[in-house]
Amino acid sequence: MSFWGGLFKKQKTDAIYEVKSPNGRINLSFVLEHGRIFYEVEKDGKMIVRRSRLGMELQDMHPLGEGLCVVRAYNRTTDQTWEAKWGEQRVIRDNYNETVIYLEEVVKPARLLTLRFRAYDDGIAFRYEIPAQPEMSQITILDELTEFSFDTNCRSWSIPAFQPDRYEYDYHEHRVRDLKESVHTPLTILTTAGHYVALHEAALYNYGSMTVKLNKRGSLCSDITPLSDGARAHVSLPFSTPWRMMIIENDALDLTTSRLMLNLNEAPREDFDWVEPIKFLGIWWAMYVGEWTWAPGDRHGATTEHAKQYIDYCRDLGIKGLLIEGWNDGWEGDWLQNGVNNKFMVSTPDFNIQEITDYGRENGVELIGHHETVGFVDNYESQLEDSYKYLNKYGVRYIKSGYAGSRMVINGKREFHHSQLGVLHYQRALELAAKYHIMLDVHEPIKSTGIERTWPNLMTREGARGQEYEGGALVPSHACFLPYTRLLAGGMDYTSGIFDVCNYTKRMATTITRQIAYYVTIYSSMQMAADRPQFYKDNYPDLFNFIRNVPLSWEKSVPLFGEIGKSFVVARQAWKKKDWYVGGVTNEEGRRVELYLDFLEEGVNYKAKLYRDAEDAHYRENQLAYVIEDKILRKGDRLEVYMAPGGGFALEILHP
Ligand code: NOJ
Ligand code: CA
Repeated sequence: MSFWGGLFKKQKTDAIYEVKSPNGRINLSFVLEHGRIFYEVEKDGKMIVRRSRLGMELQDMHPLGEGLCVVRAYNRTTDQTWEAKWGEQRVIRDNYNETVIYLEEVVKPARLLTLRFRAYDDGIAFRYEIPAQPEMSQITILDELTEFSFDTNCRSWSIPAFQPDRYEYDYHEHRVRDLKESVHTPLTILTTAGHYVALHEAALYNYGSMTVKLNKRGSLCSDITPLSDGARAHVSLPFSTPWRMMIIENDALDLTTSRLMLNLNEAPREDFDWVEPIKFLGIWWAMYVGEWTWAPGDRHGATTEHAKQYIDYCRDLGIKGLLIEGWNDGWEGDWLQNGVNNKFMVSTPDFNIQEITDYGRENGVELIGHHETVGFVDNYESQLEDSYKYLNKYGVRYIKSGYAGSRMVINGKREFHHSQLGVLHYQRALELAAKYHIMLDVHEPIKSTGIERTWPNLMTREGARGQEYEGGALVPSHACFLPYTRLLAGGMDYTSGIFDVCNYTKRMATTITRQIAYYVTIYSSMQMAADRPQFYKDNYPDLFNFIRNVPLSWEKSVPLFGEIGKSFVVARQAWKKKDWYVGGVTNEEGRRVELYLDFLEEGVNYKAKLYRDAEDAHYRENQLAYVIEDKILRKGDRLEVYMAPGGGFALEILHP
């Protein structure tokens, strides 16, 4: 170390660097105090996150995050716009100020660490970058010590982590001080100063997914999903962690229009012009209501005959895709236990894939393939590429995959779905799918961290409690939590559109109208019309019109009304068009909302159709009472709409 270098470093073991959002309202500070690293966040002079520790524990080495000095720092501003392939907003502005701090340990081995901080008008983000360096080529991260020191009195909404059903839980409210067990992100927080924050991560690759809980110091802290050997990740250098991000807004509704997570991901490396959103029916709900079975037998759902019937329905209903579950070898007996033997290139004897895909082609309907892995990743990976090739041969372009089971089996060991090895598997499947021009709808997925910007063939995911839990385990408030929590991480396959709401086996805790509201309130670029098609064609063709017409991508989205867990109303403009669609949902309480139609174009008479609950509708007693009204609407109009308990509405507003 030179004399000047030594002197410089000594001076810089205490320092503060600030980075402000472009509008100056959010301030993110990096603090170096006696060689230890911290950060703080404020908005409009009010504290969001008080001084919080940064650092990592590494195997066979000193922790990283102490005895550091600043070697160099630089600032940079970015302001650009990009166009999405599909999504809730077509044109997205990416505008931030960035400060990068290069740190080095004062004493030997003088390891290097870089911290990258960004401030946006809608939040902040930072990440650790560990450069390649002589003393370290591979490291084992035993713990990430990132604190998020919110006032522990803050209210928050989340689902528990490390549970057998992965992300499929009800949302609950807790004070931050009560988060003693880990919860998943996005974790939504209302600060004591009144700001709404969604704490999440972006660009999760090659690392355990971040959950959070209180640490011994009483601060909220990262709890990275461990591997079966106890480590959080094994990586080679150079390495960057995912972004730790916070959307910060004054109103809960504004969280829903933030594109911070996508902005923190990279642009795609290819054009992905072959990617295309789609609606689909499925040989699916008939299994849930017990009419058909996944396994072969008398009531086997996935037969050539049923497939052809359903293709006819798709054609008649104007739906382009058909999912068929239970088509392959592996569903016999207790499929959740036996899935280790699933074969993805062998169909059951009563399922002729050639005949079905040919018949589909003649009728303008394509097959959505299905791969239920039951989490047996070793078995799946041994067939993965061949199974994609197999589907390619029949012209299949979409796959719904599934990872039911409480753990994955990877390299013979039981691992969490959201561990580093789980993350790596989902990524391998996704990149290979891109190679074969296959689009994915992943159930029991890794949570979204916005990588669909880089890999737009990742069309949608489940990753929350969906309608498969109806028939007892879903409460009306659930879909009123999703927009402010799970859906901040992107689209979800909620399997909407069940019209047989009073079914004896699977009774929905919704009115029938609410089933079409979901197509607007729950974004997904692959949308299922999940019920058996006779309910669409024969029973409710009038309500089905909405499902047929509703777009799969939006020019922009304007939230109109709502409160976490109570209600959500959003208007969305059709992709590259002037039509608008509005959807609303409410919890167990009936609600009359007044909509201000300020988003419409001046001087235009729009032809509108309102699908709403009748005044006496109710999610328990009177689910089928709905009203459809034609209207002419103009900018500035106020429209009063009633949502029954457990109900909702859908509104189509067409530009002439
Ligand atoms: C769970 C998925 O979420 C569901 O959609 C699917 O039907 C079952 N697994 C069987 O694959
Ligand atoms: Ca599921």
